[in-house]
Amino acid sequence: MDLGNGVITPGHKSAETLEHELASLGLPDLNNKTVLDIGAWDGYFSFAAERLGAKRVVALDHYVWMMDLPKQQAYFRSCLERGEPPKEYETVAGLWQPDALPGKRAFDTAHAALGSSVESVVADFMRMDLDALGQFDVVLLLGVLYHLRDPWSCLSRLRHVTRGTARIETHAVAIAGHPQLRAWEFYPGAELAGDSSNWWGPTVDGLLSACRDVGFSPEPITDVPTPAVGVENYRLVVRCD
Ligand SMILES: C[S@@+](CC[C@H](N)C(=O)[O-])C[C@H]1O[C@@H](n2cnc3c(N)ncnc32)[C@H](O)[C@@H]1O
Repeated sequence: MDLGNGVITPGHKSAETLEHELASLGLPDLNNKTVLDIGAWDGYFSFAAERLGAKRVVALDHYVWMMDLPKQQAYFRSCLERGEPPKEYETVAGLWQPDALPGKRAFDTAHAALGSSVESVVADFMRMDLDALGQFDVVLLLGVLYHLRDPWSCLSRLRHVTRGTARIETHAVAIAGHPQLRAWEFYPGAELAGDSSNWWGPTVDGLLSACRDVGFSPEPITDVPTPAVGVENYRLVVRCD
C-alpha cells in the first residue's frame, strides 16, 4: 500500500497488482458516493475508494481482524509439515482474539498514516443488523463470497445493503464442455489452496443466476475461460446493478 512520502508497505501483492485489480473492477465515478467494503482486511480498496472521491467509506470486517495472523501462519505451516489439514482457524486456541483485534493493526496503521476518514465496522456481515448498517451507493464484496458457508444468503444480504451497484470478485470455476452450467463446486476441509476457510467455487452462470435470484441485474466483467478439458479455476468479477 502506498502511504505517501515514498513509503510503500510490503505485502502479498505488489502495488502494480493491486492497481490492476482495482482497475479490473470497472468502478463507476465514486465522487460524492457512499461506499461499503465488505471484508476490507488491510483496507486497500477502502482507502482507494476514499482517494477516488467517495464522500463516505465504511470498511467492514471481523474474521482476519480478530485473528493473530503470525500465529495463524505458524499453525498453517505446522499442519503442512505434519501432513494434516488445518482446522477452522477460529476453533484453534490462541488464534482468534475478538477483543484484541490483532489482525486489524495493519488497517489501523495505514488509516493513521493516510490521515483517512474511512470508518471501520467490526462485524460479521452474515449476522449483523443490516438496517443499522444502512444502504450504500457502491458495495464491494471482493474475495469474500467463497469464504462463506452460505453464499446465497450473503448475496441476498448484499442486495439489501446496495442502493446503486455492487462488485463481486470471487474464486470461480469453468467446466470443460459445460459453459452454461449453473453449478457451485464445494470444497470440504482445506481442499481449495489448503485453506480451511474456502468453501465454494461457482461457475459464471451459477453466480449470475444466484445474483438474479436475489434481485440484481448482474453482468460478468472478466473474460470467462473455456477450458478444453477438466475444470479451470480463475477469478471472476461480476457487476451487480
Ligand atoms: C481474501 S480476503 C479479501 C480481502 C480484500 N477484500 C481483498 O480483496 O483484498 C477475505 C476477507 O473477508 C473477510 N470476511 C470473511 N468472512 C466475513 C464475514 N462474514 N463478515 C465480514 N468479513 C468477512 C475476511 O476477514 C477477510 O478480510
